[in-house]
Formats: sequence, structure tokens, C-alpha cells
Amino acid sequence: MASLLMMLAGCNDSGSSQEVGQSLDDLKVSRVVGGEPEMGRRIIAAYECGVCHVIPGIQGAHGIVGPPLTDFGRRQFIGGVVPNEPSLLVRWVQDAPSIAPHTGMPDLGLSNDEARHVAAYLYTLR
Ligand code: HEC
Repeated sequence: MASLLMMLAGCNDSGSSQEVGQSLDDLKVSRVVGGEPEMGRRIIAAYECGVCHVIPGIQGAHGIVGPPLTDFGRRQFIGGVVPNEPSLLVRWVQDAPSIAPHTGMPDLGLSNDEARHVAAYLYTLR
């Protein structure tokens, strides 16, 4: 994990950051095994994540309780505590308090499959 972080940090400093960053993001989307962004978009709407978050592409998602998920695919950390990595994002959207016990984001009880679709969608935001 530490080396992935260093890679990510390094990319932002390098001249060709856009290109390298882009392919890293593509890699992340494809690493959400079985995750379909379009399915994720519908699940996000159904669970009303937009009550708390601004989420591009989701109708009515203008919440300001949590951070905007705009450009989430390029965010380095999840909740500021763990690296933005597919397996951790899947777990975060299912049960954020299992990662950050004091977080304001509730355990929303998504199934594993639902969480994978949601993560795949979030990685398209960049
Ligand atoms: C009751 C409000 C609430 C709901 C509903 C909610 N969240 Fe959150 N979410 C938060 C808060 C507050 C944070 C900030 C947590 C922290 O930093 O500890 C957060 C953080 C996040 C993060 C990390 C953002 C970052 O920049 O680090 C993601 C991703 C996320 N939420 C996705 C979702 C998804 C997907 C859903 C729906 C399945 C959802 N949230 C529903 C309140 C909510």
C-alpha cells in the first residue's frame, strides 16, 4: 500500500501527470471486479447517497453533509484515513464505520455486489 501511495503522489508531481493519472484511474475501475458503473449509478440513486453528497450524474444529489464526490476517482484517500484503493472503497460504501469508527457516514448495509457497482461508478468521476 505504501508503494502505491508513493506512486500516486509521484504521478501528481511529474510532467506527464494527466496521462499517467488517467491510466491509473482506468486500472482502478477495472480492478473493481464485477463492478458496472451504470448499475452503480442506479444503486447510488436508490440508496439516496445524494442526501449527503454532491455526486455528478445523479439527479438531485446536492447534499452537503459529506464531501462532494466530484473527481472522487482522483482522490488519494477515502475519508482521509485509508488509501483510495478499490477493495477499501467497496468496504467503505458498505460500512464506513468499520474503517473509521467516528465517521459521520453511516453503515448503509449495501451488499457486496451493490458496493462493487457503486465503487466502479465512483471511479468514473474524475
Ligand atoms: C447520512 C449522510 C451520508 C450518507 C447517506 C452517505 N454518506 Fe458518504 N459520507 C458521509 C460523510 C459525513 C462522509 C465524510 C466521512 C469522513 O471523512 O469520515 C462521507 C464520506 C464518503 C466517501 C469518502 C469521500 C472522500 O472524499 O473521502 C465516499 C466515497 C462516500 N461517502 C460515498 C457514499 C455513498 C456511495 C453513499 C450511498 C451508498 C453515501 N456515501 C451515503 C455521509 C454520508
